[in-house]
Amino acid sequence: MKTKNLIFVLAMSMLLFNCSSDSNDDVKEQEMNPDPTTITYDAHIASIINNNCNQCHGSTPTNNAPFSLTTYDAVRGRVDRIIARVNNSTNPMPPSGQISSNLRDMIQKWKDDGLLEN
Ligand code: HEC
Repeated sequence: MKTKNLIFVLAMSMLLFNCSSDSNDDVKEQEMNPDPTTITYDAHIASIINNNCNQCHGSTPTNNAPFSLTTYDAVRGRVDRIIARVNNSTNPMPPSGQISSNLRDMIQKWKDDGLLEN
């Protein structure tokens, strides 16, 4: 009887171990395949620019910012310079310091996805 119980417990813990290692595999897979959501200006990019850039690149630029970044056309038209400057660690935009790599990756993915408006 005792041996039977022991075997049962062993079998159950192997099942549990198996489950937990399966879910670890799932997490790894998600990390390797980034969020498949298509990035659009309206859904993702406008708020990133609004929160981090428009205090200078507003509809009337301030603080010596050379242009406004408040419309889809303005942001799309300068996307290569935007990507270059947000990723420039010695001379970043915004000048106060780099935005998170997650946000920078979203801008790059927006370009890769075809610079969609919505
Ligand atoms: C505190 C004000 C300020 C903020 C916030 C700011 N900028 Fe700027 N930006 C400037 C100024 C001043 C310049 C011109 C001097 C320079 O290029 O460093 C500039 C220039 C630029 C240029 C053109 C320069 C080039 O290398 O082509 C781009 C593109 C740009 N900013 C994008 C952004 C983006 C994107 C953000 C937000 C992620 C941002 N900026 C946030 C002030 C700002």
